[in-house]
Amino acid sequence: MKKTFTLVVLSLVLISAVFVGGCAQKAANPPAQTKTDAPKRKLVAVGECTFAPFEFIDEKTGKPAGFDVELIQAIAEASGFEVEYKNLDWNSLIPALNNKEADLVVSGMTITDERALQVTFSDPYFTSGQAWAVKEGSPIKTISDLAGKTVAVQNNTTGDYAAQKLDARFKEEKKPGLIIKRFDNAADVFNELKAGGVDAIISDLPVIREYLKNHPEDKLIIPEPAFTVEYYGIAMRKQDKDIHELINKGLAKIKASGKYDEIYQKYFGKK
Ligand code: ARG
Repeated sequence: MKKTFTLVVLSLVLISAVFVGGCAQKAANPPAQTKTDAPKRKLVAVGECTFAPFEFIDEKTGKPAGFDVELIQAIAEASGFEVEYKNLDWNSLIPALNNKEADLVVSGMTITDERALQVTFSDPYFTSGQAWAVKEGSPIKTISDLAGKTVAVQNNTTGDYAAQKLDARFKEEKKPGLIIKRFDNAADVFNELKAGGVDAIISDLPVIREYLKNHPEDKLIIPEPAFTVEYYGIAMRKQDKDIHELINKGLAKIKASGKYDEIYQKYFGKK
């Protein structure tokens, strides 16, 4: 009897020792999960979603998708914040930062000196450039043949600015200028060429390439390589220094981890 009692006591002591030990270990070494228990900061990102493959509305989900959307999600994950991506008009993107409707513009936006007066750009995240496209069989064979022709661009984009420069160059060369038709969204630029409303379009090369891939029936061609070099950046309010850091550190992290390359390959294939 006494023996059984001793055994029971002994096992109880042992069991509690294991328990206490286990708990102590837990306290000293909290599982990773407890770290994320605090609610994450949420930032709102915006873009004009007719700019595939950077941002477009996914037909199945009806939600924004694309390289930029996945990029900012990966940056958010790497820097420990949450992000919601919203579709907005191109001309409302920078104003949305100023009226605090959004914290980040992730919209294939080229880093330019004029824009940098209003916003702070992240480190560059993509190298791009302007190119022009026409319908197959067009008499326009080189960029100089655009003199006196009509061209569609998205309003207030670097395509618009490139077209204005080209117009000025033609006029300097005593040639007829470029007739520029401006559209509020990137999709309408392509629609106008398709409808025969213009002779050519000027837009970002990766976006023209994506359009050609998705609409082979339109029979568009890109006769020459890109004629500008541009870098995309994420635009933020100048005063949000903490956000600048979250974005640049997150971008560096996903470049180092291979996550950036994974997203790049999904949309553009191997580098
Ligand atoms: N890269 C060009 C620019 O910054 C065009 C960007 C257009 N982006 C868009 N989502 N529509 O001016």
